[in-house]
Amino acid sequence: MKEVILVIGSAGQIGLELVVKLRNIYGDKNVIASDIIIPSYDVMEGGPFELLDILNKKQLKLVLKKHKVTQIYLLAALLSATAEYHPESAWNLNMNGLLNILDLCKPFNIRKLFWPSSIAVFGPSTPITNTPQVTIMEPDTIYGISKLAGERWCEYYHKKEGVDCRSIRYPGLIGHRSNPGGGTTDYAVHIFHQAIKKKSYECFLAKDTTLPMMYMEDALNATVGLMEADGSKLTIHSSYNVAGISFSPIELATEIGKHIHGFKCNYKPDLRQEIAKGWPQSIDDSIAKKDWGWEPKYDLSEMTKDMLDNLITNQ
Ligand code: NAD
Ligand code: SER
Repeated sequence: MKEVILVIGSAGQIGLELVVKLRNIYGDKNVIASDIIIPSYDVMEGGPFELLDILNKKQLKLVLKKHKVTQIYLLAALLSATAEYHPESAWNLNMNGLLNILDLCKPFNIRKLFWPSSIAVFGPSTPITNTPQVTIMEPDTIYGISKLAGERWCEYYHKKEGVDCRSIRYPGLIGHRSNPGGGTTDYAVHIFHQAIKKKSYECFLAKDTTLPMMYMEDALNATVGLMEADGSKLTIHSSYNVAGISFSPIELATEIGKHIHGFKCNYKPDLRQEIAKGWPQSIDDSIAKKDWGWEPKYDLSEMTKDMLDNLITNQ
């Protein structure tokens, strides 16, 4: 069956890369990028684009009808740090954006919906190492609360309406083609740019704050892998734990220092440290591995080398 895919939030850190990957798989014309802002040249020139506000349900219906959309990737959200500064807007976008889409899936015959959750669904009372798929979840950030509520809504729509909603609890994502958009893990991208430009970086997290992270290539493979998986094998309809690499700022800085001699990182924790303190350090993703064969490729040294090689080449 021919798929027509709508990506909402295509100008963001994941969207810019995911649109290109999906167009390579499904064909340029069959992947409609959309956002409330204009994305990069690659995304604009590579295929169709719609200016679309997820909170405008009327506009959403017009786009679904116009393109006869069969799958949606919903990436529009406010991330953890920005959400703490704008709690009402974050709740409105993260919750009502998702509900608008879930509500239209059945009437518009959407075969599959991808909606990302986050490690932010966990909270200070969650076991911090090898965090299980099902565990205590008491998030203490607006972002985490909205993601946990979103997971419950996805499972509810799956059970009650048969909506095929697939989801991953992404760790912090690191890539060289796009910039992060207001999260607690953004330091792990900024540090590379500053290391190349200035041989120094001031990190907003404390040096020993270990968090689960993932290289973008692995995250995109996880996303497409889950969306292409045999639905009858999927046992989780809230959101899957997936793990990549766990490291602290000082471990990343040390790894970068092996390539950029004289690189110095100092640490000045801000509000984002408080957010990070409530998140796990490592994730148990055995159910994702069993259900749909998830396997990450990059470790810390491979990821660091690839980031630096690409950023230096494209300077
Ligand atoms: P981002 O902030 O970089 O991009 C979000 C995009 O959504 C932006 O381009 C923005 O313009 C767009 N947007 C905002 N409001 C909109 C609206 N009303 N209608 C349509 N588009 C709108 O975010 P990202 O890092 O690409 O994250 C995408 C998704 O993945 C989010 O749900 C996020 O919570 C989740 N996630 C990301 C990470 C990460 O490390 N990047 C980790 C865990 C989960
Ligand atoms: N990288 C994201 C953030 O820091 C995690 O969801 O907000």
